Amino acid sequence: MPESTVPAASAGPGAATEELLALDRQHVWHPYGPMPGTADPLVVESAAGVRLRLAEPAHGQRELIDGMSSWWSAVHGYRHPVLDEAVRDQLGRMSHVMFGGLTHEPAVRLAARLAEVTPGDLEHVFLSDSGSVAVEVAVKMCLQHWRSLGRPEKRRLLTWRGGYHGDTWQPMSVCDPKGGMHHLWSGALPVQVFAEAPPAGFAAEPDPAYVAHLHEQIGRHAHELAAVVVEPVVQGAGGMRFHSPGYVRALREACDAHDVLLVLDEIATGFGRTGELFAADHAGVVPDVMCVGKALTGGYLSMAATLCTPRVAEGIARGSVPVLAHGPTFMGNPLASAVAGASLDLLLSQDWRTRVQQVSDGLRTGLAEAAELPGVREVSVLGAIGVLRLDHEVDVAAASRAAVRAGVWLRPFRDMVYAMPPYITGDEDVARIAAAMCAAAREG
Ligand SMILES: Cc1ncc(COP(=O)(O)O)c(C=O)c1O
Repeated sequence: MPESTVPAASAGPGAATEELLALDRQHVWHPYGPMPGTADPLVVESAAGVRLRLAEPAHGQRELIDGMSSWWSAVHGYRHPVLDEAVRDQLGRMSHVMFGGLTHEPAVRLAARLAEVTPGDLEHVFLSDSGSVAVEVAVKMCLQHWRSLGRPEKRRLLTWRGGYHGDTWQPMSVCDPKGGMHHLWSGALPVQVFAEAPPAGFAAEPDPAYVAHLHEQIGRHAHELAAVVVEPVVQGAGGMRFHSPGYVRALREACDAHDVLLVLDEIATGFGRTGELFAADHAGVVPDVMCVGKALTGGYLSMAATLCTPRVAEGIARGSVPVLAHGPTFMGNPLASAVAGASLDLLLSQDWRTRVQQVSDGLRTGLAEAAELPGVREVSVLGAIGVLRLDHEVDVAAASRAAVRAGVWLRPFRDMVYAMPPYITGDEDVARIAAAMCAAAREG
């Protein structure tokens, strides 16, 4: 088609970018975007370290410090030599082979490594291609577990409000009903059980009334519940709220008392982001099923994993169909497995706790002034995550513009300006991210 021809070499960079954006608007769906597109995204030409290089300067900036780690994933930054080399090395062997009837070293080693570093006896690993699919697989594992044990009526899920678990069907059903726009899907989505959102505050003492509420809800619905599915300690895209690890312990106790499985979604929180390797570690809890993704490959390739305990796997194996009925085409992709293994080794070979703590300290210092800004309701920092909650819906365009002017890439949403920088971000760049967050809060 004429619209899709490569721009002539003589076209200046301005014209090439213009053409790219016109094609983008016409053909490309962006996250939660309309079609045709209405906003002009920034065109990224390349990225290295913690900097995104734009094809064209935007508000006077050609390079932006990435405050988002590409949505929690690029924890080691971009073009890390170790990760680049892992991909190149694997590329020289094979980029992909099917996983049915075949296996390969990168996937096997990764699965064994994940079993080793995750809490307790999470030792069986299902590799898939995205976080949402990992949650679908987790739900399927739990429902199949109960079916195989002759209890098919245990097929509902319980979660707390304020969560986010992805955009495919089952994950959507456990997203916060308001944020997940359940009204749009009423009559179509499975109807799950919602407990109240956990009281905010990582360091706050667990509220006994809320703990009793969790026990009561789980007890009341236990006969029909396959599992409780939550994000431990940090509710991410559902509202960026932190809660006491005590509530995760309360869920574990209630699930044990009422014979319900516990699924912890660590897709955003996994691999050090909250200051522990997994957020479940703050609580000392071992779930029955755990999902990881995002930072699993250091943000290089799309991959996620669902891990379960022998109890869950043995339940499934006892059924008339003793296999887990799932098998994506790109399951265990060798390139993704290789870079995930390298990313995990890279993380664990360094003093990642100190690095995350330094980012945390920098955010805390830089955001201290934000509490005094008009319109800022709350400032919270946990691990390498900083959040400014406003008392109004953020003007995304104005807030993003202010951040770009300050030389930083942020993506504010709802009533929040937030950042989760790559762990390699140096002190000066963390300070700039915090300053850009304040500028975004002031102007958004
Ligand atoms: C906690 C959580 N679960 C699941 C997902 C979905 O992952 P993906 O976007 O890779 O499908 C996300 C993504 O933001 C997430 O934060």
